[in-house]
Amino acid sequence: MELTGKRIALGVTGGIAAYKAAELVRLLIKQGATVQVVMTDAATHFVTPVTFQALSGKPVFTDLWTPCVANNMAHIDLSREADALLIAPASADFVAKLANGLADDLLSTLTLARSCPLLVAPAMNLQMWTNPATQRNIATLLGDGVAILGPASGDQACGEIGLGRMIEAEEIVADLIAFFQPKVLAGKKLLLTAGPTFEAIDPVRGITNLSSGKMGFALARAAQEAGAQVTLVCGPVSQPTPRGITRIDVISALEMHAAVMRHAATQDVFIGVAAVADYRPSTAAEHKIKKDGQSAPAIELIQNPDILAEVAALPTPPLCVGFAAETRNLAEYAQKKRIAKKIPLIVGNLIEHGFGGDDNTLILFDENGQLPLTPAPKLELARQLMARIATLLENR
Ligand code: PMT
Repeated sequence: MELTGKRIALGVTGGIAAYKAAELVRLLIKQGATVQVVMTDAATHFVTPVTFQALSGKPVFTDLWTPCVANNMAHIDLSREADALLIAPASADFVAKLANGLADDLLSTLTLARSCPLLVAPAMNLQMWTNPATQRNIATLLGDGVAILGPASGDQACGEIGLGRMIEAEEIVADLIAFFQPKVLAGKKLLLTAGPTFEAIDPVRGITNLSSGKMGFALARAAQEAGAQVTLVCGPVSQPTPRGITRIDVISALEMHAAVMRHAATQDVFIGVAAVADYRPSTAAEHKIKKDGQSAPAIELIQNPDILAEVAALPTPPLCVGFAAETRNLAEYAQKKRIAKKIPLIVGNLIEHGFGGDDNTLILFDENGQLPLTPAPKLELARQLMARIATLLENR
């Protein structure tokens, strides 16, 4: 319920993507928001107001001239009462109206009369999207501080393939949740590692661990929500990439090391969340190792570079935060790692039920001691950690 208490005015304009707005209303309500739908006349030709009324539990406004609205000031009241005005889908025509400040129907009028932030999810044909007039209008809206969500690329209703599709309802909800997070890392660059590494023994086998990447991806999303420019270096995981994040996929610790060292010097923050293999086979066999029926093969291991320690040892290092997963003696082992790697903060988690859960129990360790956080979903903990990192950056 990440939008509990938020009042969203949802403007729906005419386009085939209007059907996706119905799912959007359902998802917004599921996240705890109250949704007031306002439709343009064109939108009502694609989906009826009754659909939105049933999903939002509120009457849908379509007309500037509704006599039942007290004092006939719906255009002012609807945007006064909202925490955000979201227009999804926004047609090319409506984008043009917004850019030019037109107010010739209820939705454009309440948009012009709003005092709340405006988010717009464009949906149109590829040619309309790439038309210089639309691009000019979008640039104007961006300049006016409007958040533009998407569009996405893919199959279009007209049969063409390309940019212009409205982003999916789930993505719009994620963008809205992100929009409401405090921008404590605005303008900062944050690099992090996530997931396991895989150290090859032969072409089909290797040494790895069960890190799912969930904690690291939650941190990446929380950092992006907080306004940071995020680069995520991750080992083999099957997590979807949060929108707006630069993702670099790697397999081995050596590849992770190389990717991190390419970017580390220019970052404000580095977080090592990955469960990096400390050792790798000294050589990986060129072909699959066969059983000879006599003896088990011996695998010689050599040490991998310590990525976090190397970043912390840069001449002007970013603020470095480590993670420590332990099955016992968490405080002792975590503090030892923090001191050995010369980092100000390490985040400890006791691994009682293995990796991969959606929730976590974290304890922060620094030079002053320890601070346990209340067990919570990984994304919520990640957001708390971003607030902590922002404070550390301020006091650096
Ligand atoms: O991915 P999930 O399933 O959500 O699980 C998350 C997690 C449990 C993997 C994560 O929360 C976590 O604790 N990651 C650190 C795991 C660990 O104990 O790492 P370590 O003790 O090997 O390393 C300590 C720190 O040094 C870590 O920040 C690690 O990224 C870093 N390190 C370690 C070795 C190495 N060669 N290079 C490194 O940078």
